[in-house]
Amino acid sequence: MSELLSVGQMGYYASWFLKSKVGSRRPLVNTMLINFNCNLKCKHCSISGNAEKLPSPSQMSWGDAEREMRDFYEKGARILFFEGGEPTLWVSDGKDLGDLIRLGREIGYHVVGYTTNGTTHFFEESDVISVSLDGPREVHDEIRGTGVFDKLMSNLEGTNHPNIFANMTIMQQNKDEVRRTAEIVKGHNHIRGLMLNFITPPPQDIALSLKEKSKVVEEALRLKKEGYPILNTTKALRELLKEDYGKECPHWVSAFVLPDCSHYYGCPMENTEACKQCGFDAVREYRLITKGNVSAIREMSKRFAYSKP
Ligand SMILES: C[S@@+](CC[C@H](N)C(=O)[O-])C[C@H]1O[C@@H](n2cnc3c(N)ncnc32)[C@H](O)[C@@H]1O
Repeated sequence: MSELLSVGQMGYYASWFLKSKVGSRRPLVNTMLINFNCNLKCKHCSISGNAEKLPSPSQMSWGDAEREMRDFYEKGARILFFEGGEPTLWVSDGKDLGDLIRLGREIGYHVVGYTTNGTTHFFEESDVISVSLDGPREVHDEIRGTGVFDKLMSNLEGTNHPNIFANMTIMQQNKDEVRRTAEIVKGHNHIRGLMLNFITPPPQDIALSLKEKSKVVEEALRLKKEGYPILNTTKALRELLKEDYGKECPHWVSAFVLPDCSHYYGCPMENTEACKQCGFDAVREYRLITKGNVSAIREMSKRFAYSKP
């Protein structure tokens, strides 16, 4: 896979950026949460922990998904990410996640990716795959369930996908495990890097205080200096310590669609208590990109903005 953006794709991103500077606020990313159902019940999951409060239906139909993908492409989005629930479990009208990924490419998205717990199987046609890795075996399994770490690792052995990265959500259970997790990623042939996020409550009881977050950020900055493949940019790591980031969040960069086809920009938590404690690194990277921060543009486009040739 080439890491070079095609001229056309690069031109599109440059024009999106320049237009945003003169007030045109078009989404670049379309995040589609296609289902709520999952085969795991992770301790920190805001979806599985709130099953009874979620809107129905619990999954998007093929027809709705196609319409939403086309609609947000027309609105400007060129990066498409499938989220869940567990998106690899999605099926509708005889179609699966692989069909959605191929349709996304046909529509013209530059990049199509998805997040997964890695316990089912990998859809190789995806440009990028984000696997959740919340720590070494005993910690990952404490958060996600017995045997989940080994299943993820054995599935990773069975793929040659060139653009898989790990996503770690930091909470009380794993706040001291960032170094050991970074070591696993560094030594792994199939994982290209580690993205760190803090839990966005609920649940509140396993969230971190600002002091605890600072310790984690210091460790992450040290790891970056030592050459560990931490994907967060230095500046975004520091911005993870800014409280009430909702005021800074460039909501318009990412469209967000739920299974019932309700639409949001940024995420459905805007203006809530959760938004004030947002721990998502992507939000910081988006803001830095819109501000023209060179390392956020360079680092994020290397991982998330190019297609398979
Ligand atoms: C909601 S899951 C969906 C994809 C898939 N089931 C998985 O486990 O990766 C996507 C990512 O969000 C993270 N996540 C879940 N609840 C969270 C929360 N309250 N705060 C921050 N991240 C969270 C998960 O750890 C995972 O890496």
